[in-house]
Amino acid sequence: MSKPEKKHLPLFQYKGFNLITDMHDAEKLDKLYDTEIYESDIFIVTYPKSGTIWMQQIMSLIEAKGDFNATFNMTTADRVPWIEANGTIEKFASLSPPRIHVSHLPWNYMPKELRQKKGKIIYVSRNPKDVLVSFYHFHKFSNIFETPKDFNTFLEKFLNGNVFCSSWFDHIKGWYMHKDDFNILFLSYEEMIQDLRSSVKKICTFLDRKLSDEEIDNVEEHSQFHIMKNNSCANYRDVCPEIFDHDKGSFMRKGIVGDWKKHLTVEQNQKFDEVFQEKMRDVNIKFIWSN
Ligand code: A3P
Repeated sequence: MSKPEKKHLPLFQYKGFNLITDMHDAEKLDKLYDTEIYESDIFIVTYPKSGTIWMQQIMSLIEAKGDFNATFNMTTADRVPWIEANGTIEKFASLSPPRIHVSHLPWNYMPKELRQKKGKIIYVSRNPKDVLVSFYHFHKFSNIFETPKDFNTFLEKFLNGNVFCSSWFDHIKGWYMHKDDFNILFLSYEEMIQDLRSSVKKICTFLDRKLSDEEIDNVEEHSQFHIMKNNSCANYRDVCPEIFDHDKGSFMRKGIVGDWKKHLTVEQNQKFDEVFQEKMRDVNIKFIWSN
């Protein structure tokens, strides 16, 4: 079978935030901002490569009370769609509750009623060095983005926020500094790696979902890396062949903490730390950098 044509999609700025031409639309995003929010609305929010697909899988399994069959034959993106994506954004206002979506948007571009503590948000963060490495590999296998010249070039772009979703620093700082405005649970990729079961329980408590121990076992089982890697409904393997070149990589790449150590030179790491210290000096978020 011949390979589908590559579909490179340039970035555009929506109020200074980098989004993707053809996938996002400024006018629709303006409307989304004013959309009514229900108490039962749930949003997963992440910066790219922080474990979004993982949380989509967990969330849909929690909603199905751990019943894997209820999530089978439907991709994670269909089960928990991107609110800001063309195709979903137009439908959102007319959907019946419970509405469960995922987003990469900054805190101040999400529907404004969320700031009245309506609805619930789960923000998943990941240490930014692993985000950088995962994002770099993602650019190599995703046709929509320009392939980076080399790792160093991509590092510069990442630190300057010249990538899809702009600056990691601004994203996390924005959400963290405004956390008291929202009904929000912060979870980290690393704590999920260390103790997935506790993270699942935290989510259930936050969302007021009552699952038995056995149901939680099932959620845990089907959200493990090696299980998701072999589940084409949870690994983007079968979706959008024009977007991903599966000969060049995999969405479920390594799924570990600390892979950055294999990628950053001593100088690159020093540069990263300098920028990190400067940009994060006004927030006190602790990161787990290695296992
Ligand atoms: P790596 O590229 O470091 O392997 P996102 O969905 O936000 O784009 O995040 C993708 C990253 O999350 C990838 O990281 C992917 O492997 C990792 N990931 C997805 N599911 C996971 C799981 N069940 N356990 C651990 N890591 C997972």
